[in-house]
Amino acid sequence: MLKKTMIAAALIGAAFATAAPAEAEDAEVMYKFYCAQCHGLTGKGDGPNVTKDFPVSPRNFTSAAEMNKLTDADMKNVVMDGGPAASKSPMMPPWSKTLTDAEVDALVGHLRKLCQCKGKQG
Ligand code: HEC
Repeated sequence: MLKKTMIAAALIGAAFATAAPAEAEDAEVMYKFYCAQCHGLTGKGDGPNVTKDFPVSPRNFTSAAEMNKLTDADMKNVVMDGGPAASKSPMMPPWSKTLTDAEVDALVGHLRKLCQCKGKQG
C-alpha cells in the first residue's frame, strides 16, 4: 500500500514537471542545444553547421528589421513544421516531433529577446 502511494506521488510529480511551462532559462538551453548550430549562439545566423553550400542563410535573429516582419505565430509555424511549411528552405528542419508546444512558445519568446523586438502583431 505504502509503495503504491509513493508511485502515485512520483507520477504526479512527473506530470507536473512536464506540464509546467518552460522557463526562460530552459528556452536558452534549448536554443543552444537545438538551434545554435545553424542560427548561431547569439542568433546571428552564423552557427558552425552553416557552410557556403547553404542555399539560404539561417535567419539572423538579432535583426529587428527582419524579425518585425514575422508574427509569433509565423515563427511557431516554421519551427513546428519546418521551412517548407512557410515556403522557406527545407534546411530549416521541423521540430514538432522533438519539441512540445510549450517549448516552442518558449523558444519563440527567446527569439524575441534576441531581436529585442515585439514582431508583427496579429
Ligand atoms: C540545420 C540548420 C538549422 C537548424 C538546426 C535550425 N534552423 Fe531555423 N532556419 C534554418 C535556415 C537555413 C532558415 C532560413 C530558411 C529560409 O529563409 O528559407 C531558418 C529559418 C528559421 C525561422 C524562420 C525565419 C523567417 O524569416 O521566417 C525560424 C523562426 C527559425 N529558423 C527558428 C529555429 C529554431 C527555434 C530552431 C531550433 C529549435 C532552428 N531554427 C533550428 C536553419 C536551421
